[in-house]
Amino acid sequence: MLQRFNNIVILTGAGVSAESGVATFRGPDGLWEGHRVEDVATPEAFVRDPDLVQKFYDERRAKLKTVEPNAAHQALARLDQTWAGELLLVTQNVDDLHDRAGSQRLLHMHGELNRAWCLACDARSPFDGDMASGPPCPACGQTGSLRPDIVWFGEMPYQMERIEQALRSCDLFVSIGTSGAVYPAAGFVQTARYHGARTLEMNLDPSEGSFHFHESRMGRAGELVPDWVEQVLSHGLC
Ligand code: OAD
Repeated sequence: MLQRFNNIVILTGAGVSAESGVATFRGPDGLWEGHRVEDVATPEAFVRDPDLVQKFYDERRAKLKTVEPNAAHQALARLDQTWAGELLLVTQNVDDLHDRAGSQRLLHMHGELNRAWCLACDARSPFDGDMASGPPCPACGQTGSLRPDIVWFGEMPYQMERIEQALRSCDLFVSIGTSGAVYPAAGFVQTARYHGARTLEMNLDPSEGSFHFHESRMGRAGELVPDWVEQVLSHGLC
């Protein structure tokens, strides 16, 4: 059944960047670029072995310079630029591909590779380089005090109040390229649906919470998302 709507919330995960050549988090071997998540994406890992964690994110940051937004990022940016109603794109991704494609109404709930958080002065600053060498904080000049401005397991995702508010008021919630394995993002569909939104998922395989969605479209984001955006912009229907 097709429905009209005005207020859209979109959640993206690693699958939206897969066709750009950015590795997803949960590969078939359960590892993220050869590492267990708890060895590189927790505050405990950073205390235990800061050099390993810094080098891991330095490599991911350097890799960003070699990849480009794909058709899914571009279609979502076109939707953002064209859609006159409310829209919020919430990404779990720490890459900058939505930004580079041109999305504006965008929120990085898990932080960004291209930002640094200074543990000395608490400033968060744009950052484009290597942190393992202990460069000075762009804000206070202290050396060796920067960490990636990335939300690790056990830490609070960014802007949750704003996201919750958007989920409660949207009438269409769309989830793209996420396994639905990590909360709170995995629970967004339930909040949106409870408050009356239609819910659509686009993913390579059914996500863990697939049964929560009114509709699931299975396939590659680079094909499904441009088709969906075309459908929305031509007919205002989903
Ligand atoms: P995952 O790696 O868990 O899931 C990626 C999903 O994308 C899987 O369900 C794949 O089937 C799907 N996928 C892969 N290629 C695709 C394609 N071309 N088109 C469409 N879908 C495709 O990544 P996330 O769900 O984003 O958090 O992971 C969530 C969070 O867990 C991450 O933000 C990160 C991680 O630990 C933190 O670092 C805090």
